[in-house]
Amino acid sequence: MNCTSCRHELPAAARFCPSCGTPCPSPVAAAPEDERKLVTAVFCDLVGSTALSGLLDPETLRTVTLRYFAVMSEQIEAHGGTPEKFIGDAVMAVFGVPVMREDDARRALAAALGMREALAVLNTELEATLGIRLDIRIGVNTGQVVASSDASTRQALISGETVNVAARLEQNAAAGEILIGPQTLEAAGPTVVVRETGPLRLKGKTDSVHAYRLIALGADDPELLRRFDVPFIGRAAERAALDEALEHTARGAGPGLVRLVGDAGIGKTRLAREWLTGLDGPGRPVVGTGRCRSYGDHGTLAPLADAVREVLGSPVAREALDGASGRSGAAVADAWALLRGGLLHDGTPNAPFEDMCAALVTVLSRTAGRRPVLLVIDDWHWAEPLLVRTVNR
Ligand SMILES: Nc1ncnc2c1ncn2[C@@H]1O[C@H](COP(=O)(O)OP(=O)(O)O)[C@@H](O)[C@H]1O
Ligand SMILES: [Mg+2]
Repeated sequence: MNCTSCRHELPAAARFCPSCGTPCPSPVAAAPEDERKLVTAVFCDLVGSTALSGLLDPETLRTVTLRYFAVMSEQIEAHGGTPEKFIGDAVMAVFGVPVMREDDARRALAAALGMREALAVLNTELEATLGIRLDIRIGVNTGQVVASSDASTRQALISGETVNVAARLEQNAAAGEILIGPQTLEAAGPTVVVRETGPLRLKGKTDSVHAYRLIALGADDPELLRRFDVPFIGRAAERAALDEALEHTARGAGPGLVRLVGDAGIGKTRLAREWLTGLDGPGRPVVGTGRCRSYGDHGTLAPLADAVREVLGSPVAREALDGASGRSGAAVADAWALLRGGLLHDGTPNAPFEDMCAALVTVLSRTAGRRPVLLVIDDWHWAEPLLVRTVNR
């Protein structure tokens, strides 16, 4: 099997590509057998489409419906979900099939909010051209389903109570509303902003279901999603190893790269935070941090751009870069201008790639002349291949 991202050959049973860190397709998910999985289902339907059919001729209505399907599917896919099927005017999507991710519920909610925003854009266009607007309502629910993921059909058919409840939540939502089930709320973490609707009696269910109106999705910073307020224990050896690596570089050994490798939840992010907080004294490094994201329309190099921006914004870097004069002053100014026009602007690489790397070396090494420079990039398993390549340079 080869990596889906960089085509590197994968060792048997690898969970992440050893070359670029992309998660490997799960061999279990690829097996053409029925299995139970935890997924998040999303239903989105048009409100008042009967009225619409009275306003538009059938051909125009069909074009509008297809546009709506395309715009909704785009949002679902951009957040890592799979549009499963279209039923009438409804789109049904699932997060967690074929690949399960720990943040599937958050992705589904981000997709739902994205669908609502994308619809507003589509409506501006439809109002201008046809004088109509569409309204949608959305239901999101998380739970166990039976998934038959037959790779040959490219369609993962899921069924079960979870899916039915998602559909019922959607039917109970008002125009423009996103109703979510209790398991989705729990799985999406503490930063989700909702308003309780009170228990809903859903068709086909004897017990009432607690539903919540989604208002907003708060930040997904690890210290918010996970408890970083519990006392930090141990990790003396790891901290010493990090100290030593930093000292080694600061003594003039040239740039160094340290990887913190371990299973999810083992404490990599927390260790890095604790270690950084403990760094002080006159020789403490200038620190820039960035984080790789598993979805969303960020520039390929956005995590690096965030880290470099933070470093260059520090007083130490300002002094070092502004203090450069003569030929090196011009080189610094050129490098900085180049980066501002690309990488630092929107996190996308400058062309040519080599020039961008050279510019980075210029500004960072100039700053490092004053104080050690430390770039910390978290969630490296989500790094794009180009980011891996840039950092490895
Ligand atoms: N040494 C430690 N002492 C106490 N709690 C820790 C320690 N390391 C990690 N944790 C806790 O474990 C959880 C997961 O840690 P995190 O750094 O997010 O893991 P990772 O980044 O490896 O996925 C967090 O709640 C964190 O506060
Ligand atoms: Mg982490």
